[in-house]
Amino acid sequence: MPADLREQRLARLRLLRSFTSFAAPAPRPEVAALAAIEAELDGCTRCRLSEKRQTIVFGVGRPDADLMFIGEGPGAEEDRRGEPFVGRAGKLLDRLLDDVLGIRRDAVYIANIVKCRPPGNRNPQADEVATCLPFLERQIAAVQPKALCLLGGVALTALFPDVRGIGAERGNVRTFAGTPVVPTYHPAYLLRLSGAGGERQRARVADDLRLAWKFVEETGAAAPTRR
Ligand code: URA
Repeated sequence: MPADLREQRLARLRLLRSFTSFAAPAPRPEVAALAAIEAELDGCTRCRLSEKRQTIVFGVGRPDADLMFIGEGPGAEEDRRGEPFVGRAGKLLDRLLDDVLGIRRDAVYIANIVKCRPPGNRNPQADEVATCLPFLERQIAAVQPKALCLLGGVALTALFPDVRGIGAERGNVRTFAGTPVVPTYHPAYLLRLSGAGGERQRARVADDLRLAWKFVEETGAAAPTRR
């Protein structure tokens, strides 16, 4: 090969090598899957909740979390900040995670049944839930948690339409797409209680969190998400 051609070829190879050495590694599959779902929701107008929302509240936490929490829908603070459970109920959830399981919120994944704030914090309506649920199902499939914890009756009946209310069903383990599910009371409900009644319900939520965590530990993957 003529020297000048060989020099050109070597220059091309050097250039290629410099590109490949700087190329970002491919994202992990769960990260890529979550990013793809979030991108599909960008500017979503699939239901009327889009009319009054400020921000689509997609979900937050470890993309490969062993434990995933599902609430009802964003409140005012979540709508403003674009992150689930950052208001008063979220602060209580953080405290429960710390006190009961010794973990921080960034050790779990947190999402909601609907991703846009229902006006005035009303419950999401059936058609709004039906529109948003497929995205949540795909988030669950991407994260592949070892256990799901449902916060409150809206989350419970969105995934299990035929069950009785949260009062009767909390602490009863079910499965959703092969994943164990522990329903428990919503932290906002706990915030409305006081006195001995409040303590009793808070103790039940603590029991439910421990139960959900048992599924994480049983499958032997707890260590990396512990603080
Ligand atoms: N309540 C919910 O159900 N979800 C949030 O994100 C905040 C409050």
